[in-house]
Amino acid sequence: MKIPRRAFLGSSLAAMSAAPLAAANPKPGKGGSGKRGRREPDPSSRPPVVISTWPFGKPANDRTLEVFRSGKGGLDAVEQGVRQAEADLSNPSVGLGGIPAAHGIVQLDACIMSGPGHRAGSVAAVEGFKHPVSIARRVMEETRHVMLVGEGAQRFARDRKFEEGPAVTPGQKAAWEAWKKAQEAEKAKVPNHDTIALLMLTPSGDLFGACSTSGWGYKIPGRVGDSPIIGGGLYVDNTVGAAGATGIGENVMRYCGSFLVVEFMRQGMSPTEACLATLHRIASLDPKGYDLSVNFIALDKRGRYGAAGTGQGFQYAVACDDFSKVLQSPGVTQKPVGPLGGNRL
Ligand code: GLY
Repeated sequence: MKIPRRAFLGSSLAAMSAAPLAAANPKPGKGGSGKRGRREPDPSSRPPVVISTWPFGKPANDRTLEVFRSGKGGLDAVEQGVRQAEADLSNPSVGLGGIPAAHGIVQLDACIMSGPGHRAGSVAAVEGFKHPVSIARRVMEETRHVMLVGEGAQRFARDRKFEEGPAVTPGQKAAWEAWKKAQEAEKAKVPNHDTIALLMLTPSGDLFGACSTSGWGYKIPGRVGDSPIIGGGLYVDNTVGAAGATGIGENVMRYCGSFLVVEFMRQGMSPTEACLATLHRIASLDPKGYDLSVNFIALDKRGRYGAAGTGQGFQYAVACDDFSKVLQSPGVTQKPVGPLGGNRL
């Protein structure tokens, strides 16, 4: 599978042309005022509706709906959807096909969240297990904790006979060896990574989410990104909506990014507005401004969905009873003018 990549490290977003909000969504909305600069209203779908990050989210969405239609609940559905991405060893960003940490072994982060009961489970820096999202679910269901990491998470998984897998795939091992050599020669490039965050609204109005990644390629072993952090890479509030993130975790977790998206939806913003407002909040506080790699997806209780990212934005996938497709999010590179530029951010 060919996975579109984002060159987010070593790239200069400042070099990209400035794109105000209006340019990111140039067409006047069908239901909007038609005034120049107005965004289209967010699309909505009758549930079940599933949204996830990147084009590799499309098969994960389809699997989520398939599991749901077979009579399973929303939690089973989002878990199985993310497992689909984790099982694809050609994906260098999710599961054991991922780029390893600097010691040559893949370390996986994942979490899961159920709107009903406001329950969450999470694991980080897990080596040698194929489906960290399922380990995260068991942490949620079988312990009084939310998060287990490293050796403790592995022991927990081993005790429960979770499926084990290679420390690293042969292809990634060869790439890592080349990286090591280049690093010795101080010529190593930092590779890219993406993440799957997946959100679902069921016909009964319940929200569920899951997130999984191999994280930053050649990271310092033990580094944990935003993906397993509840409120960072994923947040589900069954009264409002859900959000998930992809990009450089350090730039998401310092701002409780997914939590903030949901809080903006609580204030009345649509999913896309909430993602944009969160990006502007982050850029307003971060010394690097918009020169970050941060992207959000969001889904609200009404079935409205949206996304936004820094720079040129990113691709995300949506599926419901009527369609399954990949969409392009709006992107932001500068402070907005108009309503989103005010103190509400
Ligand atoms: N967003 C995934 C990570 O930074 O690890």
